[in-house]
Amino acid sequence: MGKYLKELEHFQNLKRRVFRSEPIRVLVTGAAGQIAYSLLYSIGNGSVFGKDQPIILVLLDITPMMGVLDGVLMELQDCALPLLKDVIATDKEEIAFKDLDVAILVGSMPRRDGMERKDLLKANVKIFKCQGAALDKYAKKSVKVIVVGNPANTNCLTASKSAPSIPKENFSCLTRLDHNRAKAQIALKLGVTSDDVKNVIIWGNHSSTQYPDVNHAKVKLQGKEVGVYEALKDDSWLKGEFITTVQQRGAAVIKARKLSSAMSAAKAICDHVRDIWFGTPEGEFVSMGIISDGNSYGIPDDLLYSFPVTIKDKTWKVVEGLPINDFSREKMDLTAKELAEEKETAFEFLASA
Ligand SMILES: NC(=O)c1ccc[n+]([C@@H]2O[C@H](COP(=O)([O-])OP(=O)(O)OC[C@H]3O[C@@H](n4cnc5c(N)ncnc54)[C@H](O)[C@@H]3O)[C@@H](O)[C@H]2O)c1
Repeated sequence: MGKYLKELEHFQNLKRRVFRSEPIRVLVTGAAGQIAYSLLYSIGNGSVFGKDQPIILVLLDITPMMGVLDGVLMELQDCALPLLKDVIATDKEEIAFKDLDVAILVGSMPRRDGMERKDLLKANVKIFKCQGAALDKYAKKSVKVIVVGNPANTNCLTASKSAPSIPKENFSCLTRLDHNRAKAQIALKLGVTSDDVKNVIIWGNHSSTQYPDVNHAKVKLQGKEVGVYEALKDDSWLKGEFITTVQQRGAAVIKARKLSSAMSAAKAICDHVRDIWFGTPEGEFVSMGIISDGNSYGIPDDLLYSFPVTIKDKTWKVVEGLPINDFSREKMDLTAKELAEEKETAFEFLASA
């Protein structure tokens, strides 16, 4: 009987908390696509914003996808998720971006056969300029914007530039998938699980020039934390195959699956957004693409570059003062150079888009 009463009390407390919180409004774009299909359930079931946070979930896709989006909407309804106060499916930006607390921008123009990188960039500048302007006009000024659609860093910069009334710090792009890939490779090599590995870093662009760096990473072995270099004693693997495996993991998944990463991308988005919402654990840092202004690592200002960050009170801070060796320096500069070139091309289009 005591156990039953305790459970009842717990349930009533939970119910009270759920009904007391105001719902937050969360947008997912590209909502008819494959990443969204893996992502929406996790958002709806409380795995991202907490089990007592009601949500109004807004789904945006382009007009030709409205039929598919209807199916996604039906499935979300059929999940009967108690935290979902409403689900809105639309192809209209003025509805999608209204009063947002969080915007997860997944939808973008995919690369088609024969398409030059420049053409892809141009098409995406157009999309992210429009969506940035819609955020500026309709969303809350406190909105947190997470860009996933590729080229994610430059799309994020474009959206931020197009939303001048929203602080630049509210924009970030996803490099958490690369971060998770790096953690997983180290864990596999050492025969531990990925939660035993922490503080890997992805520097720079979410592209094959990214630099996965484990110079500051730690692994828990027999209950003791040691540096990854010390634990592995295999510098040539760490400086060679490990880096290329992480850099080219996306292409390897496409080759095997004939489709790009979706389940792992959705999981990484959940990790990224949950950390923004609740903060990073003490003593741990994560990677995310953020504005480079004023960093201490010699990366030029005004790039959307992936750094190690800690997060508290929904605000990120770059982890400062990590020593950088010559090997890392070269790789960090190379990926910065690529981002500067992407930015230059994007900005040529931005004026005319
Ligand atoms: N940053 C990362 O780590 C990472 C990882 C994996 C994938 N991605 C990128 O995420 C994006 C989505 O991947 P996916 O596998 O879900 O693709 P997908 O093709 O399955 O879905 C994309 C969806 O976006 C929609 N869309 C296109 N333009 C839109 C617009 N202007 N507004 C709203 N919706 C729009 C499409 O109609 C489609 O439904 C791709 O650009 C992919 O390269 C990024």
